[in-house]
Amino acid sequence: MAGRIGKRSHIIRAIAIVTCFVIGAFIYSCAGRIETGEMDTADDHSMSRTGENSAVESVVISEEAPALQIGKAFISMGEKEREMYISWQAGEDGPRILRCAEEKTDIEESVPIMAHRTEILRNSYRFKVKLSGLEPGKRYWYEIGSLEDQEDAESEAGIDEENLRSFVVPETDSEVSFVYLGDPQFDKSVNDYEAWGKLTERMYEKAPYVDFAIIGGDMVNIPTRKDHWNGFLDNCTVFEELPVMTIPGNHEGVTSNNTYKKLFHNIGNGPDGEAFYYFDRGSCRFIMLDSSFLTKARQVDMGKALWTAREREVESWLEKTLEDSGEKWKIIVTHHPIYGMHDMFTVSKEIRELWLPIMKAGGADLVLCGHQHAYMRTRDMDGMVHVMGVSGSKRSHYYTGINAPAYSESIYSAGPNYQIIKVTDDHIEITSYNEKSSIIDAARIEKDINLPYFRTFW
Ligand SMILES: [Fe+2]
Repeated sequence: MAGRIGKRSHIIRAIAIVTCFVIGAFIYSCAGRIETGEMDTADDHSMSRTGENSAVESVVISEEAPALQIGKAFISMGEKEREMYISWQAGEDGPRILRCAEEKTDIEESVPIMAHRTEILRNSYRFKVKLSGLEPGKRYWYEIGSLEDQEDAESEAGIDEENLRSFVVPETDSEVSFVYLGDPQFDKSVNDYEAWGKLTERMYEKAPYVDFAIIGGDMVNIPTRKDHWNGFLDNCTVFEELPVMTIPGNHEGVTSNNTYKKLFHNIGNGPDGEAFYYFDRGSCRFIMLDSSFLTKARQVDMGKALWTAREREVESWLEKTLEDSGEKWKIIVTHHPIYGMHDMFTVSKEIRELWLPIMKAGGADLVLCGHQHAYMRTRDMDGMVHVMGVSGSKRSHYYTGINAPAYSESIYSAGPNYQIIKVTDDHIEITSYNEKSSIIDAARIEKDINLPYFRTFW
């Protein structure tokens, strides 16, 4: 009897050792892939096939990772036209003071504003200030620093011009112009972000009149990697002056996008705790969607019951947000395309089934998307034109030059691009540029007085 028990315990021990070994090997192999950056992030369809990066939110940041560097400020708009937000990176102790004034010379006398601090990744902090009561169309100057440093520097040497930045509060009632930037993420190395930063600088030289920028998700490859965020934020200098609004892509995390939510300003008028929101500028309502919400990975992570209830909330919010916008143009921003280059391994079918009927009924006019790393503009699809862009170094390996979907009117897959979009009361002009700022496509959407919608393309 004792012998049989002993034998069984040997067997159990052996099973336990083998199980531990298998689990250990699995964890090691996952960690190795993540640490060495070998996770399959190279292409749109291969990405989704592996669960769309669902594991990366649980990666533990190594202590050796460099801290997010100080600086990296950017400006975002609030829901209300007179509100702007400025945020920046720093160590735990700051600097956390912002001064803002209409004239450079008034900075010294302006009231110092203490920023709100949030820990983004371990030992890396983001500081954020809300400015309200601003005048649309007016330029303001700002300076970030510590109370003592600012006072010392200014009393010794007057205004520290090098640290001064300025921004213009977008006007609300007139025409609005903005730039759309799809997927800035890098392909081979974080150094690719330099080229992306240069593209944004060339864009701003070409179109200094733009009121703000919209980034359509996938700013980084792995959302828990500080070096990825540093690479991206280091090249965001244009957005120290030009307001930028964003949505998360699948690379900001599919199961959740916590780092993204802490880093970027979310107006907070969407379903509770989610990265959905809207804002109005000019004659336009912008509706910003977190399309990763529709992935299987998110459903599994949230649990079917909670996800289903939240999805209904998203649908009612979308319906109401479109309805309440009145006669304004309605622009949807979603990372995953509704009509893309292909339907493989994306959530296009889910968006078409769940959200597209609401967009159609609500009279959406233009959909901006990314994810598949090419430029494409569709024909009018039931009242909507869909424009896909990519501003970073990733390129689609799918498009062969002859396999464009029947609904596409324009495709460009030779490299990074950006879209300048002007919206007036009666039309939208879309002009797409490559990284050298040469035009690759142009189109116009018109609203006719008699017909509800009448569209022409150049
Ligand atoms: Fe992407």
